[in-house]
Parts: sequence; structure tokens; C-alpha cells
Amino acid sequence: MNLFDKAKNTAQPIAGLQVGDAVNWYYRVQEVSRRKTLTGKKDYLDLVVMDRSGRLTAKAWENVEPLHKVIQAGNIYRIAGEVREYRGKLQLTITRVRPLEAGDEACRPEDFDEQPPFDSVALLRETFALLDDNIHDPHLRRLSELFQQEYGPVFSQAYGAQKIHHAFAGGLMQHTHALLKLVLAVAPHYGLDTELLLVGALFHDIGKTEEFRTQPALETTLAGGLLGHLVISLTILLDMIRRIPDFPEPLSVRIQHLIVAHHGEKEFGSPEVPKTREAYLLHILDLLDSRMSIFSEQLKVGDAQKLFSDFNQALGTRILLEK
Ligand SMILES: [Fe+2]
Ligand SMILES: [Fe+2]
Repeated sequence: MNLFDKAKNTAQPIAGLQVGDAVNWYYRVQEVSRRKTLTGKKDYLDLVVMDRSGRLTAKAWENVEPLHKVIQAGNIYRIAGEVREYRGKLQLTITRVRPLEAGDEACRPEDFDEQPPFDSVALLRETFALLDDNIHDPHLRRLSELFQQEYGPVFSQAYGAQKIHHAFAGGLMQHTHALLKLVLAVAPHYGLDTELLLVGALFHDIGKTEEFRTQPALETTLAGGLLGHLVISLTILLDMIRRIPDFPEPLSVRIQHLIVAHHGEKEFGSPEVPKTREAYLLHILDLLDSRMSIFSEQLKVGDAQKLFSDFNQALGTRILLEK
């Protein structure tokens, strides 16, 4: 044990950290990259560290070269530093890092499995109940059952994205659950095919479970980088449809269209723009839910001293921080 470890041996979960805290505890490095400061004169390390309670951005301004050699994304380290505030968000300034050693009993691997920030079992049950209660067509029902059997556990823990919106464990389920509820609220008003839309919403982003991995480090997969989640979702859908006897081809193509058109524009990765009312609605609801989530995230990190947030890249503006 060195001096570094003697400082203290009390757990410091990320969710409990506050500005000014001196940190000396175990965290998993989820991302690490070496960057240059704006003037281009100095290198620094840009990191995301995590434990089961949350994630935190971190920077290392000194000893960049040796630290970069030691730190590998995905591994757990003993990290020392200070919690500061940057643009209304907490940020850890790292001073020292060491890999795990024999005798690090206080570091338990289960403390680094990220948990959804809500009751994921209850939400999964509610999501699947929405499908079971509202899908009556036998082919679509079978498809929904296959999804539930094969993707239930993965789906409930998956991130909704790597960054920007629903980027946390359970995010994909939360986003999909929101779309199912929105479909049920809006589709009947326009006389649209609600059952088709429910299945489309269920599958539209399922490819994200294979587009990137979050453990041990956050990383785009080969298929994710070369194909993207629209194509992967389509592949997953087609694989299931092939296993359902006599699945009508026109119905299959209509669901496929919902998936490939959900980004709305070719420049955003959709090979076809929405050409049915159902596809148009799914695209709009998808956009709506992602935007609302970006608003919520921005409001959460709002600075109590200010009326407006910093410029939000995704929303293209500064937003009013409600008091
Ligand atoms: Fe998507
Ligand atoms: Fe989506």
C-alpha cells in the first residue's frame, strides 16, 4: 500500500460527489482520449469514468504521457483528484491513477455494473404489457413474442445511444416505451395502423444493441461502424420474420419501411424517406422523444445562477432554465 491509498478507504460513489470533493477511490474508465488544448500547445486526457451510480467526465492536465500509458478504457483504476465545476456540470480533475493491485479488496467488480436510473423490471413488464394488450394480428403478435423472448434482458439494459439522448443503461427501453405510448395516443386520432406502428417502434432501434458496446468500454462495434443501427435493426427483424410461417410479405415490407425511414431524411442515414403515414408518424415521434430527452438532460445540469443554459449543440440554441 502506498501513500496514495492511505488517504482514505471510504467508498466515494459518483452520484454522491460534490464540487470541491477530494477524490481517492476506484472507478472504471469508460472512455479515454488524448486531445490538444485550444491553443494546441498542450496535450490533455479527456475521460469518462463510471461506477454503478453514474458517470462523470474527467480531465488530466498534467503527467499526460505517463497517465496515457497506464490508462486503458474498460479497466478499473484507483483514481485521485478533485471535483470541479465546468459549465454547470461536475468534472473530475485527475492527479494520480494506478491500476488495481493485489489487496484492493475494497474494489468490488459488481460496483461497476451500471444500473438503469429507474425500476427496469417494472418498466420492461409495462412495455411488454402494452404490446400484448394492443397487438391482435397473429403474425405481429408472434413477432412481438419472439422479440420479448430473445431481446428482453438485453433490451432492458441497453443504452439508447452513445451520446446526446438516452445515453445510459435502460435508455433504449425508456425511449421505446415512450414511443409505444405516443403511438397509442396519436395513431388512432389519424386512423393509422396502430399495431403496425407498435411493432415498428419496438424494432426501430433494436440494432443499437449491436451498434456499440458499453462494457467494458464504450465503443462502436465493427458492424455498428460499417452498417449502422438501421441496417442492423432490419437484419434482426428479417431474421425473426423468416421464422414465422406464412408471414405476409407486404406486411413485412411495411414494417421494414418503418425501420429504414425512421431517421426521416437521407442525409440522416435513412435510405428512404417516409412514404407511408405510419412511417412519417414514427419518424416524428422518434424525433419528439429524443428532443424532449435532450431538453430534460439540459435542464438537469442547469446552472442555478443563470436564466439560460449554455449553447446546446443538439437543440441549436440556449434554453430557458425554468425556475
Ligand atoms: Fe434510430
Ligand atoms: Fe429512436
